Amino acid sequence: MCYGNQVLLLFAIACASPGSDSADPCAEERVTWQDWGAGFFGGYCRTCHSSTTADRHGAPDGVDFDTLADVRAFAARVRVRVLEQQDMPVGGGVPDDDLSRLDTFLQCGL
Ligand code: HEC
Repeated sequence: MCYGNQVLLLFAIACASPGSDSADPCAEERVTWQDWGAGFFGGYCRTCHSSTTADRHGAPDGVDFDTLADVRAFAARVRVRVLEQQDMPVGGGVPDDDLSRLDTFLQCGL
């Protein structure tokens, strides 16, 4: 029987690729405020959520996304409304690749 050898071989293969399954989403893609976040929140949110917008369309006072610090302050609610309920921006409609970048950004870019 060569069963024992097969097990050893699998073990050797698993050990030959260190880090390939290390499941660190932050190592795979870098999504920063400068490269992506500022544009995303500017494009999708600031028509209503900005300290400088002329008409907030009912967005609560103080819930602004002008700076990285603003987004940090509301990060948990951003995750719920944009990723989970998908009702922000009002009515949803954010493309899947931006949703997945937002997910990475909220985990790794704040
Ligand atoms: C067309 C205007 C508009 C746009 C664009 C918009 N919002 Fe809102 N937002 C609102 C209004 C109105 C409310 C208050 C009513 C509500 O909570 O549904 C609100 C409330 C919120 C709140 C606070 C309420 C809570 O659940 O904690 C968060 C956080 C939020 N929006 C996130 C976002 C994000 C992030 C974006 C961009 C991806 C966005 N919104 C885009 C109008 C807008």
